[in-house]
This record gives sequence, C-alpha cells and structure tokens, in this order.
Amino acid sequence: MTATRAAPATTRTRTRTDDPALLEVDGLTVRFRLRDAVVQAVTDLHLTVHPGELLAVVGESGCGKSVLAHALLGLLPGNATVTGRARLRPPGGDVVDLVGCGERHLARTVRGRAVGLVPQSPATALTPVRTGRHLLVETLRAHGHTRRDAPVAADRVAVDVGLLPDDLDRYPHELSGGMAQRLATALALAPDPPLLLADEPTTGLDRPLVDHTLDLLRRRCDSGAAVLLITHDLAAARRVADTVAVMYASRIVEHRPTEALFAAPAHPYTAGLLDALPDRAFRPVPGHPPMLTDLPAGCAFAPRCGRATDGCATLPAAATVGDSGRLSCHHPLPAGAVA
Ligand SMILES: Nc1ncnc2c1ncn2[C@@H]1O[C@H](COP(=O)(O)OP(=O)(O)O)[C@@H](O)[C@H]1O
Ligand code: SF4
Ligand SMILES: [Mg+2]
Repeated sequence: MTATRAAPATTRTRTRTDDPALLEVDGLTVRFRLRDAVVQAVTDLHLTVHPGELLAVVGESGCGKSVLAHALLGLLPGNATVTGRARLRPPGGDVVDLVGCGERHLARTVRGRAVGLVPQSPATALTPVRTGRHLLVETLRAHGHTRRDAPVAADRVAVDVGLLPDDLDRYPHELSGGMAQRLATALALAPDPPLLLADEPTTGLDRPLVDHTLDLLRRRCDSGAAVLLITHDLAAARRVADTVAVMYASRIVEHRPTEALFAAPAHPYTAGLLDALPDRAFRPVPGHPPMLTDLPAGCAFAPRCGRATDGCATLPAAATVGDSGRLSCHHPLPAGAVA
C-alpha cells in the first residue's frame, strides 16, 4: 500500500441512496484454474453502488481488486470461472445481468457505454498506431457527437483530465506514463457512462494531478454518475469516497462510510492499513498477504492479526450487515477504538 498523507475530505453531496442501486453485486466469486492449483481471486463479494456514489475499493496488491473490475465487464481470460450475480440498472434501460448476459451484450451495450473502464495499465490498452486525438474523436463519434463537434469536445475532455489539447496529437509511445494515464481517463469519461470503474487512475501522476483526477471523478458523482475507484492510496479514498470497501485476500472484510471507517476502523486489517499512514503511526501491517492458491478455511488475516484466537483460523467470519456497513471479523475493534 502507498502510505501517502491523507488529504482533507472534500465536501460531498449526498449519495442518492433512495434511488435504486445502479450496481448490485451478490456473492461474486472468481476462480482461475492453473495447471496444478486454483487461484481464489474474488470470493463471495457483495456490494451496491448508487447513482452519485463514489465507492473506493482499497487493499494491498494482489487481493483481487482488478479482477473484480474485469469480472464485471467480462474481460477475464479463459481460465477464469465467475459465479454469483452482478446486476446493472442503467438509467432508463433494462437491468443487465453482467455475469450471465454474454459477450455480445457486454460488447454492444455495457463496455464503454453503460460502464466505462480506466484500466490499470493504460499504456498497453491504447492502440499504438493512433494519436490520442484520433482515439478520442473516434470514441466521441461512436457516442453521438457529430463530425463537427467531436474535435471540440475532445479538446474539452483533454483539458478536463489535465492534458493540453496539443498533447492529443501524440501517439501513445510518445506519451509519458502519467499522460497515457490521463488519456485513458479521458477515453473512459468521454461517453459519459453512468458507471465508471477506475482502476488505479492516478498511477504515475504527481500529487497536484492526483488531486485533479480525484476531484474530476468526484464531480462526475456529484452530477449523478457513480464511480468505483480502485486504489491502493488511502489518502485518495479519504479525499473523495462516500464509502470504502477494504479487500483482503479476495474478500471484502469491511465496507463502511468513509468518515466512519477512518475515524473508527472495526476490522483489524483496516486498522493496520490506517496505522501505516504517515500521519498516523507510520507502521506497516506486519507480515505478508497469503497466497490465493492456499487460503485457510477461516480468516485469512489470522497469521497477521493481534486479535486472533484459535477459532479465527478455522471458522469463516460471516459478514455482519448493519446500518453502519458490512464487516467480517470474529473479534472486531470496539466502536470508537482507533489502532
Ligand atoms: N489470468 C490469471 N490467471 C491466474 N491468476 C490470476 C490471473 N489474473 C489475476 N490473477 C491473480 O488474481 C489475484 C488478484 O489479482 P488482481 O486483481 O490483479 O490484484 P490487485 O488487487 O492488485 O488488483 C492475484 O493473485 C493474481 O495473481
Ligand atoms: S476474524 Fe480473528 S483473525 Fe480475522 S481479523 Fe478478526 S480477530 Fe483477526
Ligand atoms: Mg490491480
């Protein structure tokens, strides 16, 4: 995890929780078959995202964050098996079963339209033989802009993400990592999707551009879109998220409103992540995450947890769901306790 200084949270508008959820994920599970093992990449994952909500998914590298985003868009390779349910309810459209609807439907109505993706490795996702302008204008034309207004809109989107219009005339290999990142964000935002999956969208950016990008995503939510922000940067989550879901070893272990989670983490792993921040104890979580090919029957955090008891390693910690959020732990921290 990157332990950057937590910036003060911006003022947030209220998430439209009275509206039906835009995305409802129930029991989503992803397994990768390897020759002699199975990777448990995402396990029994539940979450909802409402219009206007910015949900941050945080957790150490390798815990399943990117696989979650790819599973929602049907972008996993052939050795993956996806079970569970993920329902998308686009405004004014029919409910889409993202797990069962099939590639044709995903390609025609979901990817890039109802759901935008800022991929984790934008440099490899950009077509190398097209300039940024070509890619952006093509995207805008595919989503209703005319030949006349698409170039103007392209300049506007470029400036929104912190690029200069002239930067669009470069080919992907002529862009720095941070510029490619911003171009990928521009391409995902240009069709104005009601749901954006942003997978580490601030990689390679300096702090002012990180904040610029985060605030841009926040404004999208404030005007009614929803964003699922995948990040290892807790300061980023704190700055813009309404709710934070903490993933550990393929599961969401705690999912609560941002302020409550930062003020009083209930799961020992969340407390450990917050403890690692420079403006707190600046002490990393001891030990390492487990191999996802070899997870214990009980809590995967047990070997690293100061509150573990014998039962923790053998008994799965069922999720408790209440007004304050969702938590999976046999011995949560008492309310108000900060690690
Ligand atoms: N195609 C694949 N085949 C086997 N394992 C994979 C595949 N893609 C991802 N994984 C594994 O799934 C786990 C979760 O990966 P990922 O979602 O990329 O983590 P992160 O939280 O860093 O985004 C990792 O252990 C990764 O090695
Ligand atoms: S279930 Fe037990 S080992 Fe796991 S986080 Fe809670 S107290 Fe720690
Ligand atoms: Mg990732």
